[in-house]
Amino acid sequence: MAVLGHVDHGKTSLLDKIRGSAVSEGEAGAITQHIGATAVPLDTVSQMAGSLVKPEDFDLPGLLFIDTPGHHSFSTLRSRGGALADIAILVVDVNDSFQPQTEEAIDILKRTGTPFIVAANKIDTTPGWNPQEGAPIQKTYEEQSQRARSKLDEKLYEIIGELSERGFSSDFYWRVQNFQSNIGVVPVSALTGEGIPDLLGVLMGLSQRYMKDEMAIDVAGPGSGTVLEVKEERGFGATLDVVLYDGTIRAGDTIVVGGANDPIVTEVRALLQPRPNAEIRTEKRFDKVEEVRAAAGVKIAAPDLEDAMAGAPVRVVGDRDLDEVVREVEAE
Ligand code: GTP
Ligand code: MG
Repeated sequence: MAVLGHVDHGKTSLLDKIRGSAVSEGEAGAITQHIGATAVPLDTVSQMAGSLVKPEDFDLPGLLFIDTPGHHSFSTLRSRGGALADIAILVVDVNDSFQPQTEEAIDILKRTGTPFIVAANKIDTTPGWNPQEGAPIQKTYEEQSQRARSKLDEKLYEIIGELSERGFSSDFYWRVQNFQSNIGVVPVSALTGEGIPDLLGVLMGLSQRYMKDEMAIDVAGPGSGTVLEVKEERGFGATLDVVLYDGTIRAGDTIVVGGANDPIVTEVRALLQPRPNAEIRTEKRFDKVEEVRAAAGVKIAAPDLEDAMAGAPVRVVGDRDLDEVVREVEAE
Protein backbone atom coordinates (compact mmCIF):
# COMPACT_ATOMS: atom_id res chain seq x y z
CA MET A 1 0.00 0.00 0.00
CA ALA A 2 1.28 3.41 -0.93
CA VAL A 3 1.41 6.43 1.35
CA LEU A 4 0.73 9.61 -0.60
CA GLY A 5 0.21 13.26 0.27
CA HIS A 6 1.54 16.80 0.23
CA VAL A 7 5.05 17.63 1.42
CA ASP A 8 5.44 17.62 5.22
CA HIS A 9 1.95 16.31 5.90
CA GLY A 10 3.57 13.44 7.80
CA LYS A 11 3.79 10.37 5.51
CA THR A 12 7.23 9.25 6.66
CA SER A 13 6.46 10.08 10.31
CA LEU A 14 3.35 7.90 10.20
CA LEU A 15 5.39 5.02 8.83
CA ASP A 16 8.09 5.68 11.41
CA LYS A 17 5.50 5.40 14.15
CA ILE A 18 4.18 2.14 12.74
CA ARG A 19 7.56 0.51 12.18
CA GLY A 20 9.14 2.04 15.28
CA SER A 21 12.01 3.78 13.51
CA ALA A 22 13.10 7.33 12.82
CA VAL A 23 13.74 7.53 9.08
CA SER A 24 12.25 11.03 8.82
CA GLU A 25 14.83 12.52 11.19
CA GLY A 26 17.67 11.15 9.06
CA GLU A 27 16.41 12.72 5.85
CA ALA A 28 17.87 15.93 4.46
CA GLY A 29 15.48 18.68 5.58
CA ALA A 30 13.08 15.82 6.46
CA ILE A 31 12.16 15.61 2.78
CA THR A 32 11.73 12.19 1.27
CA GLN A 33 13.56 11.96 -2.04
CA HIS A 34 12.93 8.37 -3.04
CA ILE A 35 10.27 5.75 -2.91
CA GLY A 36 10.80 3.40 0.00
CA ALA A 37 9.30 0.09 1.00
CA THR A 38 8.81 -1.46 4.42
CA ALA A 39 7.27 -4.80 5.30
CA VAL A 40 5.48 -4.61 8.64
CA PRO A 41 4.72 -8.11 9.97
CA LEU A 42 1.30 -9.05 11.35
CA ASP A 43 2.58 -9.31 14.94
CA THR A 44 3.89 -5.72 14.83
CA VAL A 45 0.59 -4.55 13.38
CA SER A 46 -1.41 -6.30 16.08
CA GLN A 47 0.87 -5.05 18.84
CA MET A 48 0.25 -1.49 17.73
CA ALA A 49 -3.42 -1.93 16.99
CA GLY A 50 -4.28 -3.81 20.20
CA SER A 51 -7.78 -5.21 20.18
CA LEU A 52 -8.49 -3.65 16.78
CA VAL A 53 -6.35 -6.25 14.98
CA LYS A 54 -6.52 -9.82 16.28
CA PRO A 55 -3.88 -11.86 14.44
CA GLU A 56 -6.10 -14.96 14.32
CA ASP A 57 -8.62 -13.07 12.14
CA PHE A 58 -6.16 -12.55 9.31
CA ASP A 59 -4.45 -14.72 6.69
CA LEU A 60 -2.11 -11.88 5.73
CA PRO A 61 1.56 -11.99 6.71
CA GLY A 62 1.42 -8.23 7.35
CA LEU A 63 1.39 -5.00 5.38
CA LEU A 64 3.84 -3.71 2.79
CA PHE A 65 4.07 0.08 2.93
CA ILE A 66 5.46 2.15 0.05
CA ASP A 67 6.55 5.64 1.11
CA THR A 68 6.51 8.36 -1.54
CA PRO A 69 7.94 11.89 -1.59
CA GLY A 70 5.52 14.81 -1.30
CA HIS A 71 7.85 17.50 -2.63
CA HIS A 72 6.54 18.88 -5.94
CA SER A 73 9.59 17.85 -7.96
CA PHE A 74 9.01 14.14 -7.43
CA SER A 75 5.86 13.75 -9.45
CA THR A 76 6.97 10.67 -11.43
CA LEU A 77 8.01 8.87 -8.26
CA ARG A 78 4.61 9.53 -6.71
CA SER A 79 2.83 8.36 -9.76
CA ARG A 80 4.95 5.20 -9.79
CA GLY A 81 4.35 4.57 -6.07
CA GLY A 82 0.62 5.21 -6.44
CA ALA A 83 0.32 2.91 -9.42
CA LEU A 84 2.15 0.10 -7.62
CA ALA A 85 -0.18 -0.15 -4.70
CA ASP A 86 -3.34 -2.18 -4.09
CA ILE A 87 -4.54 0.32 -1.54
CA ALA A 88 -3.38 3.83 -0.74
CA ILE A 89 -3.28 6.03 2.33
CA LEU A 90 -3.70 9.69 1.50
CA VAL A 91 -2.13 11.67 4.32
CA VAL A 92 -3.65 15.11 4.89
CA ASP A 93 -2.46 17.54 7.55
CA VAL A 94 -5.60 18.68 9.39
CA ASN A 95 -4.23 22.23 9.59
CA ASP A 96 -3.32 22.50 5.91
CA SER A 97 -6.13 20.43 4.42
CA PHE A 98 -5.90 19.97 0.64
CA GLN A 99 -2.70 21.23 -1.03
CA PRO A 100 -1.29 20.87 -4.58
CA GLN A 101 0.27 17.44 -4.06
CA THR A 102 -2.87 16.25 -2.29
CA GLU A 103 -4.73 17.14 -5.47
CA GLU A 104 -2.12 15.41 -7.54
CA ALA A 105 -2.36 12.28 -5.40
CA ILE A 106 -6.15 12.28 -5.80
CA ASP A 107 -5.70 12.44 -9.57
CA ILE A 108 -3.29 9.49 -9.51
CA LEU A 109 -5.70 7.47 -7.36
CA LYS A 110 -8.61 8.33 -9.63
CA ARG A 111 -6.67 7.44 -12.75
CA THR A 112 -5.43 4.11 -11.39
CA GLY A 113 -8.72 3.30 -9.64
CA THR A 114 -6.81 2.58 -6.43
CA PRO A 115 -9.01 2.30 -3.34
CA PHE A 116 -7.81 4.62 -0.59
CA ILE A 117 -8.43 5.93 2.87
CA VAL A 118 -7.54 9.33 4.26
CA ALA A 119 -5.29 9.66 7.30
CA ALA A 120 -6.16 13.09 8.75
CA ASN A 121 -2.84 13.64 10.47
CA LYS A 122 -1.51 15.90 13.25
CA ILE A 123 -4.70 15.88 15.33
CA ASP A 124 -2.43 16.51 18.34
CA THR A 125 -1.99 20.09 17.13
CA THR A 126 -5.66 20.87 17.79
CA PRO A 127 -5.79 23.76 20.31
CA GLY A 128 -6.33 22.38 23.82
CA TRP A 129 -5.60 18.79 22.79
CA ASN A 130 -4.98 16.36 25.63
CA PRO A 131 -2.81 13.63 24.08
CA GLN A 132 -3.40 9.94 24.88
CA GLU A 133 -0.29 8.16 23.62
CA GLY A 134 -1.13 5.36 21.16
CA ALA A 135 -4.86 5.37 21.95
CA PRO A 136 -7.62 4.44 19.50
CA ILE A 137 -9.43 7.51 18.25
CA GLN A 138 -12.70 6.89 20.09
CA LYS A 139 -10.89 6.66 23.38
CA THR A 140 -8.80 9.79 22.95
CA TYR A 141 -11.81 11.69 21.59
CA GLU A 142 -13.68 10.99 24.84
CA GLU A 143 -10.79 12.52 26.82
CA GLN A 144 -10.95 15.85 24.96
CA SER A 145 -12.74 18.97 26.00
CA GLN A 146 -15.87 19.98 24.11
CA ARG A 147 -13.92 22.83 22.57
CA ALA A 148 -11.05 20.64 21.30
CA ARG A 149 -13.54 18.16 19.88
CA SER A 150 -15.43 20.74 17.92
CA LYS A 151 -12.17 22.30 16.68
CA LEU A 152 -11.11 18.89 15.38
CA ASP A 153 -14.54 18.15 13.89
CA GLU A 154 -14.38 21.42 12.02
CA LYS A 155 -11.06 20.48 10.43
CA LEU A 156 -12.22 16.98 9.59
CA TYR A 157 -15.39 18.26 7.94
CA GLU A 158 -13.26 20.58 5.86
CA ILE A 159 -11.38 17.54 4.50
CA ILE A 160 -14.66 15.69 3.91
CA GLY A 161 -15.89 18.78 2.03
CA GLU A 162 -12.75 18.90 -0.15
CA LEU A 163 -13.20 15.23 -1.02
CA SER A 164 -16.82 15.80 -1.88
CA GLU A 165 -15.87 18.62 -4.25
CA ARG A 166 -13.73 16.11 -6.12
CA GLY A 167 -16.51 13.60 -6.45
CA PHE A 168 -15.66 11.35 -3.49
CA SER A 169 -18.19 10.74 -0.81
CA SER A 170 -16.45 10.23 2.50
CA ASP A 171 -17.14 10.07 6.21
CA PHE A 172 -15.46 9.31 9.54
CA TYR A 173 -14.25 5.78 9.03
CA TRP A 174 -16.40 4.29 11.83
CA ARG A 175 -19.50 5.37 9.95
CA VAL A 176 -18.42 3.86 6.65
CA GLN A 177 -20.16 0.60 5.73
CA ASN A 178 -18.70 0.09 2.30
CA PHE A 179 -15.15 1.31 1.81
CA GLN A 180 -15.44 0.87 -1.94
CA SER A 181 -18.13 3.49 -2.37
CA ASN A 182 -17.19 5.66 0.61
CA ILE A 183 -13.78 6.98 1.60
CA GLY A 184 -13.01 6.42 5.28
CA VAL A 185 -11.36 9.33 7.08
CA VAL A 186 -9.18 8.23 10.01
CA PRO A 187 -8.00 10.98 12.38
CA VAL A 188 -4.43 10.22 13.49
CA SER A 189 -1.29 11.67 14.99
CA ALA A 190 2.08 10.36 13.87
CA LEU A 191 3.54 12.15 16.88
CA THR A 192 1.42 10.65 19.67
CA GLY A 193 0.28 7.50 17.85
CA GLU A 194 -3.37 8.37 18.48
CA GLY A 195 -5.65 6.80 15.89
CA ILE A 196 -2.89 4.53 14.57
CA PRO A 197 -4.66 1.41 15.94
CA ASP A 198 -7.70 2.48 13.90
CA LEU A 199 -5.63 3.15 10.79
CA LEU A 200 -4.03 -0.30 11.00
CA GLY A 201 -7.38 -1.95 11.68
CA VAL A 202 -8.96 -0.38 8.59
CA LEU A 203 -5.93 -1.21 6.43
CA MET A 204 -5.86 -4.82 7.56
CA GLY A 205 -9.56 -5.20 6.90
CA LEU A 206 -9.27 -3.66 3.46
CA SER A 207 -6.19 -5.70 2.55
CA GLN A 208 -7.82 -8.92 3.62
CA ARG A 209 -10.89 -8.17 1.50
CA TYR A 210 -8.80 -7.08 -1.42
CA MET A 211 -6.65 -10.23 -1.19
CA LYS A 212 -9.73 -12.43 -1.25
CA ASP A 213 -10.92 -10.67 -4.42
CA GLU A 214 -7.52 -10.89 -6.00
CA MET A 215 -6.70 -14.48 -5.17
CA ALA A 216 -6.58 -14.83 -8.93
CA ILE A 217 -3.13 -13.30 -8.61
CA ASP A 218 -0.92 -16.34 -8.66
CA VAL A 219 1.74 -15.80 -6.00
CA ALA A 220 3.37 -19.04 -7.10
CA GLY A 221 3.71 -17.84 -10.72
CA PRO A 222 6.70 -15.99 -12.19
CA GLY A 223 7.42 -12.75 -10.33
CA SER A 224 6.60 -9.25 -11.55
CA GLY A 225 7.96 -6.14 -9.93
CA THR A 226 9.05 -2.55 -10.36
CA VAL A 227 12.50 -1.09 -9.75
CA LEU A 228 12.49 1.53 -6.99
CA GLU A 229 16.19 2.27 -7.17
CA VAL A 230 19.45 1.09 -8.70
CA LYS A 231 22.17 1.03 -6.06
CA GLU A 232 25.82 0.03 -5.73
CA GLU A 233 26.33 -2.47 -2.92
CA ARG A 234 29.76 -3.50 -1.82
CA GLY A 235 30.52 -7.06 -2.98
CA PHE A 236 27.52 -7.11 -5.34
CA GLY A 237 28.03 -4.20 -7.77
CA ALA A 238 24.84 -2.61 -9.11
CA THR A 239 21.75 -4.00 -7.37
CA LEU A 240 18.04 -3.28 -7.67
CA ASP A 241 15.62 -2.34 -4.91
CA VAL A 242 12.40 -3.81 -6.19
CA VAL A 243 8.78 -3.98 -5.10
CA LEU A 244 7.57 -7.43 -6.10
CA TYR A 245 3.83 -7.03 -6.54
CA ASP A 246 2.99 -10.40 -8.05
CA GLY A 247 4.37 -13.94 -8.17
CA THR A 248 7.61 -15.41 -6.88
CA ILE A 249 11.28 -14.75 -7.56
CA ARG A 250 14.06 -17.23 -6.72
CA ALA A 251 17.84 -17.13 -6.68
CA GLY A 252 19.07 -18.41 -10.05
CA ASP A 253 15.94 -17.22 -11.93
CA THR A 254 16.41 -15.60 -15.32
CA ILE A 255 14.94 -12.10 -15.22
CA VAL A 256 14.30 -9.32 -17.73
CA VAL A 257 14.72 -5.74 -16.50
CA GLY A 258 13.94 -2.50 -18.33
CA GLY A 259 17.19 -0.66 -19.10
CA ALA A 260 18.38 2.71 -20.43
CA ASN A 261 18.73 1.06 -23.85
CA ASP A 262 17.56 -2.50 -24.44
CA PRO A 263 15.97 -4.72 -21.81
CA ILE A 264 18.58 -6.48 -19.68
CA VAL A 265 18.47 -10.26 -19.50
CA THR A 266 20.32 -11.61 -16.50
CA GLU A 267 20.31 -14.24 -13.78
CA VAL A 268 19.55 -13.55 -10.10
CA ARG A 269 22.72 -14.08 -8.13
CA ALA A 270 21.32 -13.21 -4.71
CA LEU A 271 18.05 -12.04 -3.15
CA LEU A 272 18.48 -9.80 -0.17
CA GLN A 273 15.60 -8.98 2.10
CA PRO A 274 15.47 -6.15 4.61
CA ARG A 275 14.57 -7.28 8.10
CA PRO A 276 10.92 -6.91 9.17
CA ASN A 277 9.97 -3.28 9.82
CA ALA A 278 13.12 -2.04 8.09
CA GLU A 279 12.99 0.55 5.32
CA ILE A 280 14.69 -0.96 2.26
CA ARG A 281 16.12 2.45 1.35
CA THR A 282 18.12 3.00 4.53
CA GLU A 283 18.63 -0.56 5.75
CA LYS A 284 22.23 -1.79 5.79
CA ARG A 285 21.62 -5.35 6.97
CA PHE A 286 19.87 -7.80 4.72
CA ASP A 287 19.08 -11.47 4.96
CA LYS A 288 20.06 -13.57 1.99
CA VAL A 289 17.03 -15.62 0.99
CA GLU A 290 16.34 -18.25 -1.66
CA GLU A 291 12.87 -17.09 -2.57
CA VAL A 292 10.59 -14.07 -2.19
CA ARG A 293 6.82 -13.97 -2.72
CA ALA A 294 4.62 -10.99 -3.48
CA ALA A 295 3.98 -8.51 -2.11
CA ALA A 296 7.44 -7.69 -0.81
CA GLY A 297 10.38 -5.35 -1.06
CA VAL A 298 13.57 -7.12 -2.16
CA LYS A 299 17.06 -6.22 -3.24
CA ILE A 300 18.18 -8.16 -6.32
CA ALA A 301 21.86 -8.75 -7.02
CA ALA A 302 22.68 -9.88 -10.55
CA PRO A 303 25.29 -9.18 -13.23
CA ASP A 304 24.83 -6.37 -15.79
CA LEU A 305 22.39 -4.20 -13.84
CA GLU A 306 24.31 -0.92 -14.34
CA ASP A 307 21.89 0.31 -17.03
CA ALA A 308 18.72 -0.64 -15.18
CA MET A 309 16.37 2.25 -14.47
CA ALA A 310 14.19 3.27 -11.55
CA GLY A 311 10.58 2.70 -12.50
CA ALA A 312 11.42 -0.07 -14.96
CA PRO A 313 9.62 -3.41 -14.91
CA VAL A 314 11.25 -6.61 -13.63
CA ARG A 315 9.95 -9.95 -14.90
CA VAL A 316 10.90 -13.49 -14.00
CA VAL A 317 10.95 -15.51 -17.21
CA GLY A 318 9.98 -18.84 -15.65
CA ASP A 319 8.84 -21.36 -18.26
CA ARG A 320 7.75 -18.65 -20.67
CA ASP A 321 9.49 -17.84 -23.93
CA LEU A 322 12.36 -15.41 -23.26
CA ASP A 323 11.70 -13.30 -26.40
CA GLU A 324 8.09 -12.90 -25.40
CA VAL A 325 9.06 -11.59 -21.95
CA VAL A 326 11.64 -9.25 -23.50
CA ARG A 327 8.95 -7.85 -25.78
CA GLU A 328 6.62 -7.43 -22.81
CA VAL A 329 9.29 -5.44 -20.92
CA GLU A 330 10.06 -3.36 -24.02
CA ALA A 331 6.40 -2.48 -24.38
CA GLU A 332 6.08 -1.08 -20.82
P1 GTP B 1 7.83 14.56 2.49
O1 GTP B 1 8.44 13.20 2.52
O2 GTP B 1 8.86 15.61 2.30
O3 GTP B 1 6.72 14.68 1.52
O4 GTP B 1 7.17 14.83 3.95
P2 GTP B 1 6.34 13.80 4.83
O5 GTP B 1 4.92 13.83 4.44
O6 GTP B 1 7.01 12.45 4.84
O7 GTP B 1 6.41 14.49 6.27
P3 GTP B 1 7.32 14.06 7.51
O8 GTP B 1 6.89 12.77 8.04
O9 GTP B 1 8.74 14.21 7.14
O10 GTP B 1 6.85 15.17 8.56
C1 GTP B 1 6.99 16.55 8.35
C2 GTP B 1 7.03 17.29 9.66
O11 GTP B 1 5.78 17.19 10.34
C3 GTP B 1 8.08 16.76 10.64
O12 GTP B 1 8.65 17.84 11.29
C4 GTP B 1 7.26 15.92 11.61
O13 GTP B 1 7.84 15.86 12.88
C5 GTP B 1 5.94 16.68 11.64
N1 GTP B 1 4.80 15.79 11.95
C6 GTP B 1 4.46 14.69 11.26
N2 GTP B 1 3.38 14.11 11.80
C7 GTP B 1 3.02 14.86 12.86
C8 GTP B 1 1.96 14.80 13.83
O14 GTP B 1 1.10 13.90 13.83
N3 GTP B 1 1.90 15.77 14.77
C9 GTP B 1 2.81 16.79 14.80
N4 GTP B 1 2.67 17.69 15.77
N5 GTP B 1 3.82 16.88 13.92
C10 GTP B 1 3.93 15.94 12.96
MG1 MG C 1 8.49 11.72 3.74
